[in-house]
Amino acid sequence: MNFDRLAPHYHWMEALSGGGLLQQARTIWLDELKDCRRILSAGEGHGRFAAACTARFPMAELTCMEASAAMIAVAQTHLGRSGDSVRWHHAELLHWQNEEKFDALVTCFFLDCFPPEELTAVIANLAIRAAPQAVWLVVDFALPAHGLARWRAQVVHTLMYFFFRRVVALPARRLSAPDHLLRAQGFQLIARRTYNWGLLRADVWQRK
Ligand SMILES: C[S@@+](CC[C@H](N)C(=O)[O-])C[C@H]1O[C@@H](n2cnc3c(N)ncnc32)[C@H](O)[C@@H]1O
Repeated sequence: MNFDRLAPHYHWMEALSGGGLLQQARTIWLDELKDCRRILSAGEGHGRFAAACTARFPMAELTCMEASAAMIAVAQTHLGRSGDSVRWHHAELLHWQNEEKFDALVTCFFLDCFPPEELTAVIANLAIRAAPQAVWLVVDFALPAHGLARWRAQVVHTLMYFFFRRVVALPARRLSAPDHLLRAQGFQLIARRTYNWGLLRADVWQRK
């Protein structure tokens, strides 16, 4: 998977595809991080979560790890001076050598990039980096349980995964729900907000 090609287009693509809603989902639970000093955003991408986070919590230590150098460049341009305090790590999560523990993990539209077998390793790898009682904000596409909303989401997912598989060689063919994997790592669901007929989901999980 390589998002370099998409990086220059990510902001306008997002604006066209309901960007306001995506950003609402990214930031709806931001205040849950108010007591967190060390925050890790994995697969931060073009910097929209980072912009909101640094504006809301200028004293927090925000670490963004991201596999695409082009995405990091776009994010840094987008953030400007407000991003001076952000620590960027250009790395693939599963090969990222970093022993730090974080009070909060944030994954926005990141877990939905992975097929089931890889998702298990990705969630386990992130969980190791979480401090006891860490909060995890999980924002992803979702599949409603039934009805027209489910059918509609299936159509949207099919188009979306087809596009991302072609353009960035996304490894996932379809969405894999991360809930059971988060529970297996000791996290409990604290709050959930859904958007757009259940197509988007913003969760707060916490390790108890
Ligand atoms: C779908 S984009 C989401 C970007 C952003 N978080 C957002 O909210 O729109 C997924 C991001 O994860 C990054 N990524 C994918 N696999 C990764 C990995 N194994 N380690 C680190 N970053 C990765 C991609 O480069 C891309 O920027």
